[in-house]
Amino acid sequence: MKFFIDTANIKEIKDAHSMGMVDGVTTNPSLIAKEEGKFEDIIKQICEIVDGPVSAEVIGLDTKTMVKEAKNLAAIASNIVVKIPMTIDGIKAVKILSQEQIKTNVTLIFSPLQALMAAKSGASYASPFVGRLDDLSQDGMTLVEQIVDIYDNYAFDTEIIVASIRNPIHVLEAALMGADIATIPFNVLSKLAAHPLTDKGIDAFLADWNKAKK
Ligand code: E4P
Repeated sequence: MKFFIDTANIKEIKDAHSMGMVDGVTTNPSLIAKEEGKFEDIIKQICEIVDGPVSAEVIGLDTKTMVKEAKNLAAIASNIVVKIPMTIDGIKAVKILSQEQIKTNVTLIFSPLQALMAAKSGASYASPFVGRLDDLSQDGMTLVEQIVDIYDNYAFDTEIIVASIRNPIHVLEAALMGADIATIPFNVLSKLAAHPLTDKGIDAFLADWNKAKK
């Protein structure tokens, strides 16, 4: 499974990249708004650090504006993926962009039929938001399971990015279900590496070593 990092923070991206854990990056307008600097400059900088796909989102809501914005974004770097919201105008834009070989990530997916439409429109990636469903007492990971089945049934090339990840269990379940990608916030990535028995084991080894070598 590929790990993307879900942030626009350069320090976090560099840190995760140095662990070898960044196969790609996803951003959204809220993540960009948290950072200093202009949108395009931030995206350009991310694309210089990371070889894999970097998702940057359009702001327009009608097909024509989305396609125009998408072309500008795609011109920033060869690894740009244009994030398009899951609306009728959005999937029309995805259809046009896929015919022009511009990669797209359909975002804000909350139902399996939205994911089916994203794949049929030619999206490169589909992003189901699991955490936001869990927040409403719906099971986000059940949605991912259904999308994995649908995409397998019809051999769609669209890759599933499990998004809106809140904890390591989301990542584990995504891996067990065979989702292509998990896009992980930096704080969750750090938690994946941690185990109290690892820390306890290191402490015990060092204590024994220091006792024996006195
Ligand atoms: C990913 O593409 C989304 O930008 C992100 O995962 C949304 O996460 P949130 O629900 O924590 O805002």
